[in-house]
Amino acid sequence: MKPILLLENRLIDTRVEQPSASLHDRASQFGDGVYEVIRLYQGTFHLLEPHLARLYRSMEELEIRPAFTKAELIHWLYELVTQNECKEDAIVYLQISRGAQIRNHVYADNLTPIVYAYVAEKERPVTLMQNGIHACIEQDIRWLRCDIKSLNLLPNVLARTNAERKNCQEALLVRGNTVTEGSQSNFFLVKQGTLYTHPANHLILNGIVRQYVCSLASGLGIPVREEMFSIKDVLLAEEAFFTGTTFEILPMTHLDGAAINGGVVGSVTTALQKAFQDSIAVSTMQ
Ligand SMILES: Cc1ncc(COP(=O)(O)O)c(C=O)c1O
Repeated sequence: MKPILLLENRLIDTRVEQPSASLHDRASQFGDGVYEVIRLYQGTFHLLEPHLARLYRSMEELEIRPAFTKAELIHWLYELVTQNECKEDAIVYLQISRGAQIRNHVYADNLTPIVYAYVAEKERPVTLMQNGIHACIEQDIRWLRCDIKSLNLLPNVLARTNAERKNCQEALLVRGNTVTEGSQSNFFLVKQGTLYTHPANHLILNGIVRQYVCSLASGLGIPVREEMFSIKDVLLAEEAFFTGTTFEILPMTHLDGAAINGGVVGSVTTALQKAFQDSIAVSTMQ
């Protein structure tokens, strides 16, 4: 992690000052807050605007009212990257908690939200993008507002840890008969050349890369359908992949040990990866 953090409304150089946080922050007691993970390619923000739009939507849904303007937040984020002299592939973790209050389920409506952000180097998952990953099925036991990017991630954490223990790189979540998304990613399958992904409703997080991949697909003339599908559909799919800010486009070659498309990364996935790669190259040149 880089040494300079954003806490509340100022940057703190941790080499000269220890950041101090309230023990009564509702983020630690209730997971009462929201967050974003934003990509930087060679020190340049990628898709910052849609991340901030989703952050503001998450806050609005939870009645978290920031004491700062969006322009101030953007200024702090750019300062964070500049002062850390970040020139690599990295992520910014940005968290906004409802604020500090002596523990009480009922939140006071005059709390000052606490902003916290840092930059960490993060390489692109190049090998996994080329070779694909193994996933396992886990039950989707999350609440019914998965569209909000809240700090409450215990079901995701449990699913992802189970996957790791099974030597898988992602868990594919299933609610009833329906495949929703990954524990930390969205999910797509390809059937007869068409992309299918779960509709952007309360059962999934509408990923920024999910939306971006849909627009790349349109540009490539690949039809996209936001429809529900089952595990059986996945097993019969021509191709399948996960998307996310740190995942980018990760092909799923095996599900619970069963090969998808003979365990080979398919041509639609590769075409989307290439379009994604090209768009990064353009944005980092500007
Ligand atoms: C549950 C879940 N779905 C989807 C995503 C992908 O979202 P994005 O593309 O905005 O990174 C994430 C990323 O953290 C996630 O946690």
